[in-house]
Amino acid sequence: MTSDLGQRLDAATADLEPPFAVVDLDAFDANAADLLRRAAGKPVRLASKSVRCRALAERALAAGLRGILSFTLPEALWLAGHGASDLVVAYPAVDRTALRELASGPARERVTVMVDCREHLDLIAAAAGAPVRVCLDVDAGWWPLGGRIRIGAKRSPLRTPEQAAALAREVAARPGLELDGLMMYEAQIAGVGNRGPVIRAMQAASARELTRRRAAVVAAVRAVAPLRFVNGGGTGSVERTAAERAVTEVAAGSGLLAPTLFDAYRGFTPRPAAFFALPVVRRPSPHVATALGGGYPASGPAGRSRLPRPVAPAGLRLDRREGAGEVQTPLLGGELRVGDRVWMRHAKAGELCERFDVLHLVRGGERVGTVPTYRGEGRAFL
Ligand SMILES: Cc1ncc(COP(=O)(O)O)c(C=O)c1O
Repeated sequence: MTSDLGQRLDAATADLEPPFAVVDLDAFDANAADLLRRAAGKPVRLASKSVRCRALAERALAAGLRGILSFTLPEALWLAGHGASDLVVAYPAVDRTALRELASGPARERVTVMVDCREHLDLIAAAAGAPVRVCLDVDAGWWPLGGRIRIGAKRSPLRTPEQAAALAREVAARPGLELDGLMMYEAQIAGVGNRGPVIRAMQAASARELTRRRAAVVAAVRAVAPLRFVNGGGTGSVERTAAERAVTEVAAGSGLLAPTLFDAYRGFTPRPAAFFALPVVRRPSPHVATALGGGYPASGPAGRSRLPRPVAPAGLRLDRREGAGEVQTPLLGGELRVGDRVWMRHAKAGELCERFDVLHLVRGGERVGTVPTYRGEGRAFL
């Protein structure tokens, strides 16, 4: 499989000089269709941090995803300026300049910002414009043993129906704010893989607790004010989250490009769609070929799972001591010559786009286009 893959990618990009990045549109489109299938009719909101390329975001929306879960307010304002609408900023914004621009500009009707405490409300109120749409972020982690163990991303301090309803009342009481939605993202189910039995048992227990609590949180907040949407989940939990009655839409992004961290799921198998090519520049010994660059580790807890992975030619592996380096990456286990190429996959989806100005789009054995990444458009939001 990997040698076929390498041949296909080589054929499509023979005239390009590595390093460069490629997106396989057949895989991307199949992955978009699979996310929609898994959501079983519930809308899938695109997590833009996992794409970071406007052309691919537009492609995903054309395929049927709906709305954007943006990762910073400046990003959302920029996308709105390019015509995007229904943008929900997934993480709280304390950028006063961007909040002022939101409150006083045309993007106000298209952008919703995340809040989980009174300080967020104060910051928006200080931007002093027309009412701004807000979304409550409520913790979706799993706290067994009476909270002595806490599993999940450290996000919102709001956890109970009462806490969520109290902040909803504050929002409702402030003229500069408009309650728009509610989000609860279960990172411990959606973003960590589920290959091992212990992880699967944890995820099943967490999901049981979350289904009940999410329904109660949503009911408590809806008793204060209507909600346009209730967002939950991510690539790893689409079917499970979409099945909850209290949830009106799921979020997903990584499943489109299918980086290596998303190989660790049973139940769905996205097709790897993003690759980067590196040139072999030297042979320090007969069994080692060293490629130029390649040191693109992914964010999160540092470790081997965050390193890029060589995928073609088959049989290559990183050197344990050097890993993927800033200026060179030694590769073991192949018969490579100086001037050959190696194909790698990133551990995460959107972060690859922070390394390349453009993505070359391929289909079958052909190159069918080249599109700028955010970085290629001169924008680096995080
Ligand atoms: C709030 C939120 N929703 C959803 C997701 C899922 O995104 P993806 O499908 O790219 O993993 C994330 C990822 O971190 C997130 O932070």
